[in-house]
Amino acid sequence: MKRIQTIKEVKNEMCRYRSEGQVIGFVPTMGYLHEGHLSLVRESIKQTDRTAVSVYVNPKQFGPDEDYLQYPRDIDRDADVLEKEGVDVLFTCQDREMYPKGYKTYVEVQDYQDVLCGASRPGHFRGVCTVVLKLFQIIKPDIAFFGQKDAQQAVILKKMVKDLNAEVKISVHPIVREKDGLALSSRNALLRPRQRKAALCLYQSLQIAKQAILKGQTDSLKIIHLMKERINKEKQAQWDYVEIVDKNNLESLSKVIKGETLIALAVYIGQVRLIDNIII
Ligand code: PAF
Repeated sequence: MKRIQTIKEVKNEMCRYRSEGQVIGFVPTMGYLHEGHLSLVRESIKQTDRTAVSVYVNPKQFGPDEDYLQYPRDIDRDADVLEKEGVDVLFTCQDREMYPKGYKTYVEVQDYQDVLCGASRPGHFRGVCTVVLKLFQIIKPDIAFFGQKDAQQAVILKKMVKDLNAEVKISVHPIVREKDGLALSSRNALLRPRQRKAALCLYQSLQIAKQAILKGQTDSLKIIHLMKERINKEKQAQWDYVEIVDKNNLESLSKVIKGETLIALAVYIGQVRLIDNIII
């Protein structure tokens, strides 16, 4: 595996692969890799000829009071893991090269960026879209792999690619969970043992929603109420949002529609903000 730290060098490497007619897969990450990321890496290795992974904790997608500094980092461990998986290129980048002095250009997907996580994290998706489009310009992948855990991110990036005619396919893959149901997240590393237990309320509230729907409940408000009831039982937990939306355009749904409904939530467990979702 090549560890590359400059844009020029990684562009050259990707250019070489393209000139050999190889299909390039790309997995953008912020590092501190877990099985969720690795499932994307494995998918890329399976589906393409060359796999590039970026590890870059993008400052532009964190608000001033968010956990940019606390975000877990361990680039040497990440590099070891990726090497063992058979990744071709690990791209890391310095902030001063990604956003040089005088940087002025941002990408926004209007409306989609303002709901769910975007409502309490203004500017977050502007930061995500900006860095992802920059990474696409640098790597020029044929297929980019993302996790369904960041459901809103996946919808927004698909829309960005469509609206801007970017020539990359966005491939979205299922959430990877711990045995007890907790969705894997780099932020889980920040949970204390008691908080780890409390964090199960995200998954369990989604299961409560699913059961209610299987029994015939379709009223979004009633389902959301049941979910919040479960979360409110945890002293350490404070929900940020619990919403039922159209899985394609993120518009609020008053009734669950089969195959089209995304149930998504964000919950603070102490200071740690976790997200999870299911598609019904
Ligand atoms: O999902 C993430 O880890 C990040 O939002 C991404 C896509 C790597 C952009 O920084």
